Amino acid sequence: MTLDMEGTLHFPVATRRFASSLNLSLSSDDAMYNGNDRHYLSCGASALNAILAALNITGGESPTRVLDFGAGAGRVTRWFRAAFPDAALDACDIRAADMEFCASAFDAETWVSGTDIDSLKAPNFYDLIWLGSVATHLAADKTIDLLDKMLSWTTSHGLVVMSLHGRFALQRQRSGEFTYIHDAAWEEIERGYSASGYGYADYEGQSGYGISVSKLSWITKVIEARPNARLVLLAETAWDSHHDVVAIQSTC
Ligand SMILES: C[S@@+](CC[C@H](N)C(=O)[O-])C[C@H]1O[C@@H](n2cnc3c(N)ncnc32)[C@H](O)[C@@H]1O
Repeated sequence: MTLDMEGTLHFPVATRRFASSLNLSLSSDDAMYNGNDRHYLSCGASALNAILAALNITGGESPTRVLDFGAGAGRVTRWFRAAFPDAALDACDIRAADMEFCASAFDAETWVSGTDIDSLKAPNFYDLIWLGSVATHLAADKTIDLLDKMLSWTTSHGLVVMSLHGRFALQRQRSGEFTYIHDAAWEEIERGYSASGYGYADYEGQSGYGISVSKLSWITKVIEARPNARLVLLAETAWDSHHDVVAIQSTC
């Protein structure tokens, strides 16, 4: 990938100073790359922007150990390496080749994850865990289990930051601007969204992996039900002008 000065100006102001330290190498099999360098890089920048905002609220300390959970081939991981050069950086995903790439390109400790959330284990505890577009593909019970698992992997007062599909995603599919999933599955999502605040349906031919859309009130209630969790930030379309971002601090 290439990045010129003009491209940098498309990044949020707080992230621009890290752009010159970015590793621009790209995996040949990066599922998140669609040929548009500027957009790909700006996705990482806006994730970092939301995370820096959450870190500022919690005191502004740089994290010393960071996990990118569901990192793929490092669209956001590369920004962590640039912004937190002294931090130990971990990444996991179910895509083994992506993990090999992240390990060599971003000096990350990586492992291949699994889909059974109960049995997931991490080699370390983290000041910061990022889950970019992971819960957006899971049913409500799995999102809750994953959040609890991530909170159990934080250091004292560590942060979990995750993205969710919210009202913007709802409006995109409803208006026909973008199709996340086929119509019958979308109807199932709408039913769940109305009934409980969290709608989910499997992708065709897949079990346990699909599309979710949630209300802000749904994630707020989940956090309020956890005495050891503090809602730090909840921002609509804060990631890539698309996903909502929620930051939750462990108060243990
Ligand atoms: C939409 S992609 C986003 C990738 C990356 N976070 C990014 O923003 O570029 C979702 C990623 O989550 C990964 N994933 C899904 N379930 C997972 C699990 N149980 N453990 C780890 N990664 C998972 C997928 O393999 C995929 O790479």
